[in-house]
Amino acid sequence: MIDLHCHILPGVDDGSRSSRVSLAMAAMAEDSGVTDIAATPHFQYDLQDAAGAKQRMAELTETLQARLKADGLSLRLHVGAEILCTPQTPELLRRGLLPTVGGSRYLLVEFMFDTPAEEIDDMLLRLEAEGVRVLLAHPERYHDVQEQLEYLVRWFRRGVILQCNKGSILGSLGHRSQRTAHWMLDHGLAHVVASDAHTERVRTPHMAEVKAFLEESWGEEYADVLLTRNPARILQDRAVVSPDGEW
Ligand SMILES: [Fe+2]
Repeated sequence: MIDLHCHILPGVDDGSRSSRVSLAMAAMAEDSGVTDIAATPHFQYDLQDAAGAKQRMAELTETLQARLKADGLSLRLHVGAEILCTPQTPELLRRGLLPTVGGSRYLLVEFMFDTPAEEIDDMLLRLEAEGVRVLLAHPERYHDVQEQLEYLVRWFRRGVILQCNKGSILGSLGHRSQRTAHWMLDHGLAHVVASDAHTERVRTPHMAEVKAFLEESWGEEYADVLLTRNPARILQDRAVVSPDGEW
């Protein structure tokens, strides 16, 4: 499995607090069958600070990768970030200041949970106009989207890549997120499932349970697309597949 959304870098956001925690997270992920992780800390920097932050994250990823290797882990890390969308985001993107997932055209973006769906839609259009492929983090958690599911269909049809959280699917992020995630899976609207892990204790990078649940509820083929095939394609900068084929 390949986890494209994980707060495993130490000391940069509300995820891992230390190298010790990062190592524990990596070992746990590897134990559960994960081969690759995109290190995606929250990215909330303005025009002045973004270049430095991007550089620092790349260096931290390299340093952590060396630690993992020294510890005997074979897990591969990839650069990335979870970009909190603001009115400045398109400009940051234009200037090449935002880390994409593994250096591909795919950009992992998030919004505040109470952002109106219309505003999310508008921002996604602006980012698409810059030629980037948007990988939308946990759409099932946005309050407005939970009430207006038609936005998910609209984004899916437009080619926005929809990433559901493990915790939403398993129910640890609340009933509304779970209901929305399951609706997406029922309708084949989810492209990717990721851990969005923050520690080795709560919201963990252990992926075996969600894999088993996905296989049992939506079939082995779709589970494989969500957990392995689409994440691999994104890292390779290729088009993703739906349960029905490529598009
Ligand atoms: Fe996240």
